[in-house]
Amino acid sequence: MDPIFVVTILLGILVLSSIILLGAERLFGGGGEKMLTVNNTLHIPITESDTALNILSKNEIYIPSACGGKATCGLCKVKITDGAFELKPTETPFIGPKDAAEGIRLSCQTRVAQDMKIEIPESLFGAKEYKVELAALESLTYDIKLVRFKLIEPKVLDFYPGQYAQFIIPGVEAVRAYSFAGDAKIKDHVEFLVRMVQKGVATTYVHDIMQPGDQMTITGPYGDFYLREESDRDIICIAGGSGKAPIRSILYRLRDLGMPRKVRYFFGAVTKKDLYYTEEFEELSKEFPNFEYIPALSKPAPDDNWKGETGLITEVLDRMTDDLSGSEAYLCGSPGMIFACIKVLDSHKLPRDHTYYDSFA
Ligand SMILES: Cc1cc2nc3c(=O)[nH]c(=O)nc-3n(C[C@H](O)[C@H](O)[C@H](O)COP(=O)(O)OP(=O)(O)OC[C@H]3O[C@@H](n4cnc5c(N)ncnc54)[C@H](O)[C@@H]3O)c2cc1C
Ligand code: FES
Repeated sequence: MDPIFVVTILLGILVLSSIILLGAERLFGGGGEKMLTVNNTLHIPITESDTALNILSKNEIYIPSACGGKATCGLCKVKITDGAFELKPTETPFIGPKDAAEGIRLSCQTRVAQDMKIEIPESLFGAKEYKVELAALESLTYDIKLVRFKLIEPKVLDFYPGQYAQFIIPGVEAVRAYSFAGDAKIKDHVEFLVRMVQKGVATTYVHDIMQPGDQMTITGPYGDFYLREESDRDIICIAGGSGKAPIRSILYRLRDLGMPRKVRYFFGAVTKKDLYYTEEFEELSKEFPNFEYIPALSKPAPDDNWKGETGLITEVLDRMTDDLSGSEAYLCGSPGMIFACIKVLDSHKLPRDHTYYDSFA
């Protein structure tokens, strides 16, 4: 065979394999160390391609991830300032075109396969992993339990009233978000209110399997739903079901501050059997004339002998409030309830930038 022809073929094969290798490297991240730079200050060398969420968690930076990386909660957003890939179809329900153009991505869907620079809120550097032990489990209604954990390691946890933690459910390692429900000044124990969801992974574990003395890991604190203490606006709180959790924590803080602002708390339930902590909030309203607790039942049962407000919480809110332009609102519960209530608040002129909510989706 002509030696020139053989050399040409060999050279061709060499060039082709280099192109394939380069392509594979871009796709799968092989071939040497990459660098993930966080907030231009922390440099994490990457030897194995993994998601940004996992890499950060292995480096003790805990990004909220209530769905455990399944792209269903939308909480794990980060801003990629350098090295972002195209938006994936799994990200589009949570990230609009404007945010996408600015580099916002779900960290659970972002594989770090090349050098990448990301930005996360500084507050997330405060989130840690905590080992906790179940100290008490108490039924509050037929489907809501109070969960009290003792902090094992670290021994104290600080949070802003309104924020949430994530439970890592033992055995299945599922991650779920639960709002702190207790008094933020008690730092060696934390409380949560967990509502049972039929066949739910985390709630079945908490309601039916977990026993006092059992240990698990939680991470946090997370979230920008917390009491704005610098404000002097009147406050409207609205909750349904276990949405009472963060509001309870916020109200403890307001109590400790001497209830300096006018607070009206609307709690929506179906029948009397969905109400809980009624005495606790009635006592608070006796202690502080500035505080009003308004439980409302949408379908009171005949034997409820209900004398309080009746109707959907949106109807009660609408009929019991006037101009709210000088107020701020804290809402917590199902997405449907929250968005219906925000419409009512809008119609009463409560400014959107003073409307804070956590949707338990
Ligand atoms: C920021 C945040 C704070 C939260 N705080 C609390 C809290 O304080 N207390 C609390 O009880 N929950 C809270 N949640 C909800 C909680 O994180 C879980 O989603 C919920 O407990 C269900 O978890 P699971 O594993 O039992 O159900 P999954 O196994 O995740 O779900 C089982 C099935 O039930 C459906 N499902 C899931 N959640 C609901 C629901 N709420 N209603 C009806 N169907 C549902 C799912 O679509 C699925 O089909 C919060 C959520 C967020 C995002
Ligand atoms: S962890 Fe839930 S969307 Fe990424």
